[in-house]
Amino acid sequence: MQWGDEGKGKVIDLLSSQAEYIVRSQGGNNAGHTIMVGTEEYRFHLIPSGILYPHVRCYITGGTAIDPEVLLKEIRGLEERGIELKGRLFISPYAHLIFSYHRSLDKLYEAQKGEHAIGTTGRGIGPCYADRVSRIGVRMGEFVRPDIFKKRLKQVVAQKNQELTSIFHEPTLDFEEIFAANEKYAKLLAPYVYDVENFLAGALKKDSKMLFEGAHGTFLDVTFGTYPYVTSSSTIAAGICNGAGVGPSQITRTLGVIKAYTTRVGNGPLPTAINAEDEKLFLDHTAAREIGTTTGRKRRIGWFDGPLGRFAARLNGANDLAVTKLDVLDHLPSIKVCKGYMLDGEMLEIPPSIMEDFQRVQPVYEVLDGWQTSTREATSIEQLPKNARKYLNYLESLCEVPIGIISLGPEREKTLILKDFFTN
Ligand code: IMP
Repeated sequence: MQWGDEGKGKVIDLLSSQAEYIVRSQGGNNAGHTIMVGTEEYRFHLIPSGILYPHVRCYITGGTAIDPEVLLKEIRGLEERGIELKGRLFISPYAHLIFSYHRSLDKLYEAQKGEHAIGTTGRGIGPCYADRVSRIGVRMGEFVRPDIFKKRLKQVVAQKNQELTSIFHEPTLDFEEIFAANEKYAKLLAPYVYDVENFLAGALKKDSKMLFEGAHGTFLDVTFGTYPYVTSSSTIAAGICNGAGVGPSQITRTLGVIKAYTTRVGNGPLPTAINAEDEKLFLDHTAAREIGTTTGRKRRIGWFDGPLGRFAARLNGANDLAVTKLDVLDHLPSIKVCKGYMLDGEMLEIPPSIMEDFQRVQPVYEVLDGWQTSTREATSIEQLPKNARKYLNYLESLCEVPIGIISLGPEREKTLILKDFFTN
C-alpha cells in the first residue's frame, strides 16, 4: 500500500498456510521478502515464500521479469536447506528474461540521469520491461528452446551493441559468451517451465484457494505511482490480473499490507519524512529491520501518510488492511499522522499526480499520544494498549478500510489475525 517493504512477506507467509496455490505475477528480483521461521531467516526475491509450506505449489506467471542466474541461485539456496522445489515451482513461458545487458543498461541510464536518477535496484528491471514493450524481449518459452533463443538473442545483441557503443561508448557485447552462459541456465530452468496460466484458470474453476502476492508497493506502480520514481511494472492489485492472466472477477478479496509508519528506498518525494536527528529517536534501522533485503540500503523513514493510504486503498480496492510493524512505535511518547496535504492554500485528500507538485506538498498532522508499552506479547486486539487501538482506529478511518491483520514483530506468532481471509 506504500512504497514497498511493508512486510508483505510475513503476511503472505502466514496466509500461505491456508492456500493451495501461491502466485507471483509481476516484477522481478528488485523485490525482496525476509521471512522468519523460528530463528531461521529466509530471503526471497522471485520465488513465492509460500514454498516453505510443503503442501503449497508456487507459480511465477507471465507478467514477471526473471533473471535466470538469480532464480537458479534462489532455487539452489532453498534446496540446500532441504526444501524440495521440483513439482512445486512452476514458471510461465510468457515471463520475460533479464540478461547481463539489462543490468548494465540499468546502471548506465541511471548514471546518465545524474541528479534525476531514480535510485533503481540496478537489477535490470526497467530495461527488461522496456524491451518487452518494444517487442524485442526474450520470454521463458523461447529461452528454453536453444534454436529459437539463439536467433532471438543474436538479433537483440546486435541492437544493444549499437546503443552501447554509439551512445555510451562502452565495449561491445560478445554474443557467444552471453549465449553459452544462458544456454546452461536454460537447461537448468527448463524442467520448471509449465503452462502456468491455463493451469491456474482450471484451478480457479474448481474454487481452489489461491493467493496472489503483490510485489513492491502501490506508489512504485508504473502508472499511478510517484512517476518517474517508480518501478516498471504494475504493482497495484489490477496488475495481478494482468500479470497472471486472470480476470478481475476471479479475485474475491484484496488485502492491503500497510506499515504503521512510512518508508521509502530510492529517490523521489517522501512528504512525511522525519529529519535525520529525529530518525535516530524514531528507530534503529537494524533493530527495526529497515535495511533493504535486495540492496542493503537504509530506508528513509516518515510518519504514517493518510493521503497515500487513502489513495492506495482506492487504487487497490482493498477490502481489508494488514497493519505491520506497530511494535516499532512502542517507545514513542507521541506519534504524528498526516491527515492531508496543503498545496497552494488548498487541502488535498490524495496525492497530486504531478511530481513537481508532490514535492511541494506540506503534510498536515494530527498528533496522537503514544502508548510506551510493548505490544509484542499481545495475543488479541483487546490486549493492545488503549492508545495503540486508538492509533489503529485512526489509520482505519483515514484509509476507509477495516483492519484485518496486525503484525507486532517479524515472527509468525507475533500476529493478530482478526478474520478468515479464505472464506467468502
Ligand atoms: P527498479 O524497480 O529497480 O527499477 O527501481 C525503481 C524504484 O523502485 C527504486 O526507487 C527502487 O528502490 C524501488 N523498488 C523496486 N522494488 C522495490 C521493492 O520491492 N521495495 C522497495 N522499493 C523497491
